[in-house]
Amino acid sequence: MPIKTVSFEIRRQASPDAPAVWESFELEWRPGMNVISAMMEIAANPRTRDGRETTPITYDSNCLEEICGSCAMRINGRARMACSALIGNLEQPIKLEPLSKFPLIRDLQVDRSVLFQNLMAVKAWVPIDGTYDLGAGPRVFPQQQEANYPLSNCISCCCCMEVCPQFNESTGFVGAATIAQVKLFNNHPTGRVLKEERLRALAGDGGVQECGYAQNCVEICPKGIPLTNAISDVGREVVVQKAKDWLRG
Ligand code: SF4
Ligand code: SF4
Ligand code: FES
Repeated sequence: MPIKTVSFEIRRQASPDAPAVWESFELEWRPGMNVISAMMEIAANPRTRDGRETTPITYDSNCLEEICGSCAMRINGRARMACSALIGNLEQPIKLEPLSKFPLIRDLQVDRSVLFQNLMAVKAWVPIDGTYDLGAGPRVFPQQQEANYPLSNCISCCCCMEVCPQFNESTGFVGAATIAQVKLFNNHPTGRVLKEERLRALAGDGGVQECGYAQNCVEICPKGIPLTNAISDVGREVVVQKAKDWLRG
């Protein structure tokens, strides 16, 4: 019986300034194989389909269970997590490319630190003084927990930003993930203390008004986060905040 195989076309780039080249690989198929397990095999034995030795492939991964958000890449043209992409569900040859909207480091690895800068700009945290025991925090009711839980599932993969037509250098748009985190932390009884600052951070250029409601983000999000609802809610609050600030002079 012939051995079942899996074929890959991988976009390689040794450095940000090096030319991009495509390399083909072929592996023996195993049940339950996913893109990351295939990449591990290729990286351990970097030999192209025609038997030529090449350099090990560079990519990010960590948890291998769609929790850390590090393995996002374009798989057959679609931004998604490599660890949850089952080979059996993909058309072959499987085409792997890095995310296109983030600075390339090498091969499939990109620098997504812009998301962390954006989260810092909107103070996406609960401000507490950790130097002494503050006692129990305010009670969060089950209804609030239910509303907030989906927003807390963000894994910072940046897929929503990759597919957003508005996320580009000319708009400086922060992207859907950051806006959803503003909603999450503004909903939190302690996090709410920074609510006005967060809304002001989203009021100017690159803020929530850059969104064109194309909905690509909500369709691609691997965690099913209600991004467009969050954008609408935060958008309304930004307008109210602007009006309050104007009245206050
Ligand atoms: S709704 Fe469209 S424009 Fe707005 S963040 Fe999502 S993808 Fe971008
Ligand atoms: S909102 Fe969804 S797509 Fe965007 S970074 Fe978070 S998990 Fe990824
Ligand atoms: S390796 Fe963590 S999400 Fe894929």
